[in-house]
Amino acid sequence: MSRPVIKEVEERAPQQERLIGLHSHITGLGLDEKLKAIHIADGLVGQEEAREAAGIMVELVKRGKRPGHGLLLVGPPGTGKTAIAVGMARELGRDVPFVSMSGSEIYGTAMKKTEMLTQAIRRAIGVRLVDEREVYEGEVVNIEIEKAPHPYNPYAQVALGAFLTLKTKQEEKSLEVGERVAAQLLRLNVRPGDVIEIDAETGHVTKLGRSKYAESRWKGEYRIGRLVEVPSGPVKKVKKTTHTVTLHDIDMANIRAGRLMLFREEEITNEIRAKVDEQIEELIKSKKAELVPGVLFIDEAHMLDIEAFSFLNRALEQEFAPLLVLATNRAVTKIRGTDYKSPHGIPIDMLDRLLIAKTKIPPPEDVKKIIEIKAMADGIELSAEALDLLTEIGVKRSLRYAAQLLQPARVVAEMSGSNIVKPEHVKRVMSVYLDFRDSINYLNEELKKDPVLSEFLQ
Ligand SMILES: Nc1ncnc2c1ncn2[C@@H]1O[C@H](COP(=O)(O)OP(=O)(O)O)[C@@H](O)[C@H]1O
Ligand SMILES: [Mg+2]
Repeated sequence: MSRPVIKEVEERAPQQERLIGLHSHITGLGLDEKLKAIHIADGLVGQEEAREAAGIMVELVKRGKRPGHGLLLVGPPGTGKTAIAVGMARELGRDVPFVSMSGSEIYGTAMKKTEMLTQAIRRAIGVRLVDEREVYEGEVVNIEIEKAPHPYNPYAQVALGAFLTLKTKQEEKSLEVGERVAAQLLRLNVRPGDVIEIDAETGHVTKLGRSKYAESRWKGEYRIGRLVEVPSGPVKKVKKTTHTVTLHDIDMANIRAGRLMLFREEEITNEIRAKVDEQIEELIKSKKAELVPGVLFIDEAHMLDIEAFSFLNRALEQEFAPLLVLATNRAVTKIRGTDYKSPHGIPIDMLDRLLIAKTKIPPPEDVKKIIEIKAMADGIELSAEALDLLTEIGVKRSLRYAAQLLQPARVVAEMSGSNIVKPEHVKRVMSVYLDFRDSINYLNEELKKDPVLSEFLQ
């Protein structure tokens, strides 16, 4: 007998390429049940107050409280503001939207600033659509399908009707169904031991699987498909299903639906948005939808200008608003687009809506931990001396600089045939990549030497 041909596929190591972002090591905010920060948890180290401040906000959002305010994270560069925002995103439920952007992004597109912000806001608001259906659900105890010869095809049969009994853990109910439901039962080959659901309104039949109970009696002889529990409760019941989309998704779906010409610029008009909001409000009133306000995180918030701030300010007052999280490392600075100075470059009326939390320069032992965790998350092995050196760099220069040197140092180590990153590899990459303090000093020095170029220093 010839054996079936099995093609051997060369075995390959799984792709090493993982998301190696600057924050790849962060999996949450690392808080306990009382929302107290655990010193080292979920990839975060220290910064207890800021993490707890973020965690309490996340809890509010999870409870569906529409936050009238937002959070402002302030702290020197590299102290973990963005890291904490990433931790917030990881903590939110899977269907709670988290949108992240940098303040400078509003200048980067052909889109109007306010349009860009509107889209960001609407992406940060989820709508959980609740579908309630009345169904008959249970394990099929017996089933009789009444059949007749097909009117045109003598070899086929059609279903005229069926009589079946469904049972749950609590009750048994017999149903007589008509032609349409019977036809589906025939086509799906529904047999005793199947767990099925029949939509009471449309008559749509779904096979949910094989009953665990039935299979245990029949020793799995007829087993096809997945095993499911025998449903509990009454046979006829109301079932809830939910799925979450964002307001922006719905806006987009509505332009597509309303579009007559192909290749027209996709543009969401205010009319479309107003219509969408109206529909959603209706759905919420009739309990067919729930609002899921998410988080809009704007990093480098001092890059936003006065126009953007006043727009955001108004947007936060709207009925549908996400939680706003801003981060900045500026103290008192000019509000962009004005000659006025303001705390953190943020207009006072906006500041009024924000709770502020700070990130601090971490102590050396925390810097060491962060680098260790980060290296581990990226699969980089550091010698003890390399870790000490990177810690020193992290303390003297910045944590970000130390973190940024990890990947290049790994490459350099590999090129010289070492799996472990050693101090020489770190020193090598340090000699070619500057910290921004060095790059500023370098330019200042160089420009000073040249009478023409020194003009630029003014
Ligand atoms: N407390 C911390 N715990 C863990 N990682 C941190 C912490 N603070 C900073 N980091 C990491 O150090 C680097 C710089 O931090 P980042 O969040 O970008 O700083 P900021 O946004 O305040 O400028 C990132 O790789 C970040 O993930
Ligand atoms: Mg940052």
